[in-house]
Amino acid sequence: MMQRKLALLVGIGALTVLLMLRWEHVMTLVNLMSSKQPSAEPELPPDTITPIPGSRHLMVSAFKDHRLGGAIRVSSIICRQELQPLYCVLCANTDAKAVGALNQCAFSQAKVDVHSESFGFPFVTSDVLCMSPALQQATHVSITANPYANLTFLSIHNQEVKESFRYNFTVCISSLFGEYNNALQFAQTMEMYKLIGVQRVVIYNTSCGPDIEKILKYYRKEGMLEVVPWPIDKFLTPSTGWKYDLHHGDIHYYGQLTTLNECIYRYMYQSKYLLLNDIDEIIMPYKHANLEKLMGTLQQQHPNAGVFRFENHLFPKTQFDDSGRFRLPRWRSVPGVNILEHVYREPSRKDVFKEWKLIINPRSVEQTSVHSTLKQFGLVFKVPSDVCRIIHVREPRQAQLSKDQLFVDKKLWEFEELLIPSIDRALNESGVL
Ligand SMILES: *[C@@H]1O[C@H](CO)[C@@H](O)[C@H](O)[C@H]1NC(C)=O
Ligand SMILES: *[C@@H]1O[C@H](CO)[C@@H](O)[C@H](O)[C@H]1NC(C)=O
Ligand SMILES: *[C@@H]1O[C@H](CO)[C@@H](O)[C@H](O)[C@H]1NC(C)=O
Ligand SMILES: *[C@@H]1O[C@H](CO)[C@@H](O)[C@H](O)[C@H]1NC(C)=O
Repeated sequence: MMQRKLALLVGIGALTVLLMLRWEHVMTLVNLMSSKQPSAEPELPPDTITPIPGSRHLMVSAFKDHRLGGAIRVSSIICRQELQPLYCVLCANTDAKAVGALNQCAFSQAKVDVHSESFGFPFVTSDVLCMSPALQQATHVSITANPYANLTFLSIHNQEVKESFRYNFTVCISSLFGEYNNALQFAQTMEMYKLIGVQRVVIYNTSCGPDIEKILKYYRKEGMLEVVPWPIDKFLTPSTGWKYDLHHGDIHYYGQLTTLNECIYRYMYQSKYLLLNDIDEIIMPYKHANLEKLMGTLQQQHPNAGVFRFENHLFPKTQFDDSGRFRLPRWRSVPGVNILEHVYREPSRKDVFKEWKLIINPRSVEQTSVHSTLKQFGLVFKVPSDVCRIIHVREPRQAQLSKDQLFVDKKLWEFEELLIPSIDRALNESGVL
């Protein structure tokens, strides 16, 4: 332990003396080492994903965590086979006008918390934690494996604790990739979300098909949607499947776990609750008129719960409602699945792993995976499926079952009166019709 500490001191010896020096001096020294002209302007990232110098790791964004005494958490993607010591450079911007005025910096060794879920892939969602008490006022942070490298600074979000939120219900959709162009299902799902009380949807976009692109732009302009650029394929070879043994690649599903975790911190003080589900899933209350009433009841019954788990129920897109009531000719030209036509639900299987998705209070969660959280402060409650369940229209899991072996579930039809005109408007105004 002593030896490691000594090695660290020697390694960054020159830089430790810079603690609390002016930013220009830091830059001068950093620049002397890299023989560049001095400059007072720290470099800000051009992308949502930034390489960590001297390593294959990547950093995404930085947040103050008030639950951990104000530690700075940098959402990161770590190559776990190559985990060398990492350093934090925390800087304070005392003149709020310009990042050029960063004028106090503190160096410290980072603590790396590699999440326990990786699905076997070499690059793993992680938190790089900077806990230097020297700089509680830090506004920017950089992570590096090489203290002599040119540094890129991330601004630190969530500086203030908030008690009231702009949104009550926000859906985090982890990653859009490939040529995904299921425009009809997406527009229908967005309108359905609105009717059950979702005010905001966040989607991490690596790439998408042309019609989905139009729908995304429509909802962004309309104000409900935030699209976060997610160019993970510029940095790593993403896997198109969930399991390393089956699908290979550097990282699970285009960094799904990183985006889900990033979304928690991005919306921690913007939304009372977050729904962590996929683009083709709707967490649907069956006994309450909307999410507000559902969560009001659940939270009252379970005041210490911060994580609510919901069972996934599959509606095969291969089974159609016989009446053809919602097979509207005007939607025929829109690519994608018409969820209103699929009213048959597969029975759950007792012997098969149940899939869950989550509604969380983001302030009570530290780390999450897809079907459950990994680290949380409050209790976890599994919601009975007659109270609320996920409507998931997709390829069948039990394709051998015929219609009479499936349940008829027309929950979505209850919203017909408001739903149909609003889907029409979205398709029309986005220009896909
Ligand atoms: C720092 O950046 C300059 C200019 O972009 C480059 O020439 C130099 O090689 C970089 N130094 C290091 C250590 O990467
Ligand atoms: C959130 O819920 C509260 C009641 O719990 C309500 O007063 C408020 O208007 C809601 N906010 C939004 C954005 O719907
Ligand atoms: C999604 O990402 C792709 C690839 O970068 C880009 O071409 C497209 O415009 C993005 N869509 C939106 C709505 O941001
Ligand atoms: C679509 O938009 C056009 C022109 O903006 C309008 O005339 C038409 O009625 C709209 N159709 C629907 C179904 O909303």
